[in-house]
Parts: sequence; C-alpha cells; structure tokens
Amino acid sequence: SRVVALVPAAGRGVRLGESMPKAFVPVGGCPMLTLAIDGLIASGVVDHIVIAAPAELIGEARVLLGHRADPACPVPVSVVPGGAERTDSVRAGIAAAPRATHFLVHDAARALTPPSLIARVVAELTSGCPAVVPGLPVTDTIKSVDSDGTVTGTPDRAVLRAIQTPQGFHADLLRAAYAAGMRATDDAGLVEAFGAQVRVIPGDPMAFKITTPLDLRLARTLLAERDT
Ligand code: CTP
Ligand code: MG
Repeated sequence: SRVVALVPAAGRGVRLGESMPKAFVPVGGCPMLTLAIDGLIASGVVDHIVIAAPAELIGEARVLLGHRADPACPVPVSVVPGGAERTDSVRAGIAAAPRATHFLVHDAARALTPPSLIARVVAELTSGCPAVVPGLPVTDTIKSVDSDGTVTGTPDRAVLRAIQTPQGFHADLLRAAYAAGMRATDDAGLVEAFGAQVRVIPGDPMAFKITTPLDLRLARTLLAERDT
C-alpha cells in the first residue's frame, strides 16, 4: 500500500489576522506547516506528503521544508499550488499523487496533532474501513438559527461529534467523490454526499485547528510546555 498525506496549506488565515498566510505563522519558532509535516513523518505510517501552498509561496515552502523536500528523504515531501477554496487545494493534491492507495487529508493548521492519532487513522484504513475521521464529543450545546437569529432547532448533543483531521480514505473513493463535483465543508462530507459510509474514531484534543488568535496563544503555550 502507499499512504499519501495531502496537506492543505494554501489558506489566507483571515480569522487569525496575522500578516502572513496562516501555515507560515510561527508557533514556538517553527511555522505551523513544518510542525504539521513533522507530525506526519513521526507517525511512521505515511509514505509521501503533498502540500498545497499559496502559489506565490511555493519556493518559500520548499526552503522551509529543507531536507524534507529532498527526493532521497525517507518520506519525500512535494509542494503544489493550492486553489481558491480548500476543496480546490485538496483536488490539486489528489492530482499530484496518482499512485496513492490511501489518502490522509490533514490541515496544516492542526499543527500539534499527535503522531499517535495519525497512526490510529491509518490503522483503521488499512484494516479495511474506506473512510475514517477523528471526532470529539461536543461540549457546547449546538443550535440552528435562521437569518434573524431565531432558534430553529437544538440537536441532541449526545449524537454530535466535532470532526478533526487527518481524515483517511481509500484513494479510489476520494478520487471518485472529488470527480463527482459535489460541495461540502470537509472531505468526509464529500464522501458522504457520494453515498459512502464514514466511520468516526476518537479524536485528540491536541489536534485542534489553529483558527483564531486565542487558538494561536494556546498552541504557543502548549508547545513551550512540550519543549521544556
Ligand atoms: N486551505 C487551503 N486552501 C484554501 C483554504 C484553506 O489549503 N483555499 C487550508 C488552510 O491553509 C488550512 C486548512 O485548509 O490549513 C483549514 O482551513 P482554515 O482553518 O479555514 O484556514 P484558512 O482558510 O487559511 O483560514 P480562514 O478561513 O480564517 O481564512
Ligand atoms: Mg478557511
């Protein structure tokens, strides 16, 4: 088998509000992008990594990756230009990995994801599950609202999960779901729209997505603790 990790890293990071695209923002001295890549390499279950970076920062990404971008590296890392939406960035990564048998799709913004979570997703995939995603129980009550802010529903929290990455797929399933050209906010959503079953396994709090300034402060504090 050949497990290829696709890393969407081409977003602007509007909600974070830093001066550079989010994946290049340093956390404890290293850009989020290299932290996420080092987690994938440390998992020991990934054969190749394809990063989708902002088109104008491809060269910068290769410099940051250093030896990891060397074709002789045990887990070679390639960089391709991403697109306007996350879906476009993932699609560019899929196209760059025609020999993959399994895909992991993993946000660069989940920079502190433990290698053990990555290994658990791949173990579930290689044991035959075609689509697997990590998820955590929701701690807030979730409500749907209409455009005036009037509540239209309160789903039972016990059946809800907040979904993380890496999301794992048998490669042909993800290729087919992307070829069908549907829309969703995550890759598993595309696969569900395609009619396939997706399995949720326990996620990890450290796989949180760095989205807001508060998340960045949390990540920097956690990394400082980890490295002392
Ligand atoms: N992403 C991407 N291409 C895009 C948009 C997002 O590769 N056109 C990536 C981001 O770089 C990030 C991941 O998808 O690693 C998750 O997206 P998100 O957290 O929303 O990041 P941004 O889109 O950069 O942030 P924002 O929505 O606040 O602008
Ligand atoms: Mg976004």
